[in-house]
Amino acid sequence: MKILVTGGAGFIGSNFLYYIAENHSDYSMVCVDSLTYAGNLYNLSSLISDSRFVFYKADITDVKTIDKIFGKENPDIVVNFAAESHVDRSIENPGAFLDTNVIGTQVLMNASMKYGVKRFHQVSTDEVYGDLPIDRPDLLFTEETPLHPSSPYSVSKASADMLVQAYNRTYGLPATISRCSNNYGGYQFPEKLIPLMITNALQDKPLPVYGDGLNIRDWLYVKDHCSAIDLIIHKGKEGEIYNIGGNNEKHNIDIVKTVLRLLKKPEALITYVKDRPGHDRRYAVDSGKIRAELGWTPKTDFDTGIEKTVKWYLENQKWLQDIEDGSYKEYYDKIYGGRDE
Ligand code: NAD
Ligand code: DAU
Repeated sequence: MKILVTGGAGFIGSNFLYYIAENHSDYSMVCVDSLTYAGNLYNLSSLISDSRFVFYKADITDVKTIDKIFGKENPDIVVNFAAESHVDRSIENPGAFLDTNVIGTQVLMNASMKYGVKRFHQVSTDEVYGDLPIDRPDLLFTEETPLHPSSPYSVSKASADMLVQAYNRTYGLPATISRCSNNYGGYQFPEKLIPLMITNALQDKPLPVYGDGLNIRDWLYVKDHCSAIDLIIHKGKEGEIYNIGGNNEKHNIDIVKTVLRLLKKPEALITYVKDRPGHDRRYAVDSGKIRAELGWTPKTDFDTGIEKTVKWYLENQKWLQDIEDGSYKEYYDKIYGGRDE
């Protein structure tokens, strides 16, 4: 089997490629990533010399190049992680989100149909459902919850989801969609809450908490997201949507305090700042369907996962430094310079 993973140099995509390498030793892996600011080839450094792995620096919106890669590689399975993924950036510059997240998905689906891909999996998000009130803990997002996205990011993801459903129904593209809650773990770009707080705390810089810090997210260790996608692409039913969640709701402020405690840094570093415009109040996912139908269970509880995550950043401070001074961008040329097709 050959699996083509887009966005594999990002946070979840790189974790997923390692997951596949470990759990499907007979698979070959193709990674397509344009290496935006969020793409870091260092994330894949242990795979680059693996004979089962090939990397293409390419933009998923580039029809010709994507067609060429699909024609050459003929993948059996496509998993689309490639996206502009940061809500704050979508508020500053929505255009890039529509291009990559919507048009890019369409380009990949066209190529998947043309080259007979057996399964196209779209990695989506719980944010497509909008948000839930804090004072109604009984309410959770199910697969039937109406789409009600709030930010340009979540609108772009919801649009892509609808396009995937249209391609499945209209053209018979064998597609599945997963909608996951907030992931945490190693290799996450330090603009998202947990890695940003770790990075700032390590440097004794202020930790910016938006609004009152009481917004709630449902946190899932990244490897548990990878195992869920692995199950869906192999056992999930075509045309279906699967929610994935950690059953682990936390107020942002409690996450920040946990990070400070683990790093033995003072809470005085916490700084409340202006709220994110349109800030979703609470996410909480009902993952009953994937648990019942595919037998998925997350393996890592939050206390273990957050300790592992803080340890990962402590042990990979060079990775953080390279991002901070921009040198992570030079790694592609060092490895692949002069070898472009
Ligand atoms: P990320 O920002 O860390 O990685 C995105 C990757 O996509 C990067 O490597 C980037 O270079 C690449 N990319 C961006 N635009 C591209 C383009 N036009 N062509 C080719 N490659 C491009 O994101 P992430 O956090 O790993 O998220 C991966 C996917 O999972 C996204 O689709 C996101 O919507 C979804 N998701 C993320 C979370 C989360 O908590 N991080 C939760 C649920 C769903
Ligand atoms: O729910 C899944 C989504 O989770 C994914 O689809 C997105 O790609 C991913 O980025 C994430 O979105 P969030 O907006 O929830 O994640 P972020 O890490 O940006 O913020 C988490 C919470 O922390 C949110 O309520 C905003 C808050 N926050 C964030 C940052 C970066 C702060 O208070 N301070 C910060 O500096």
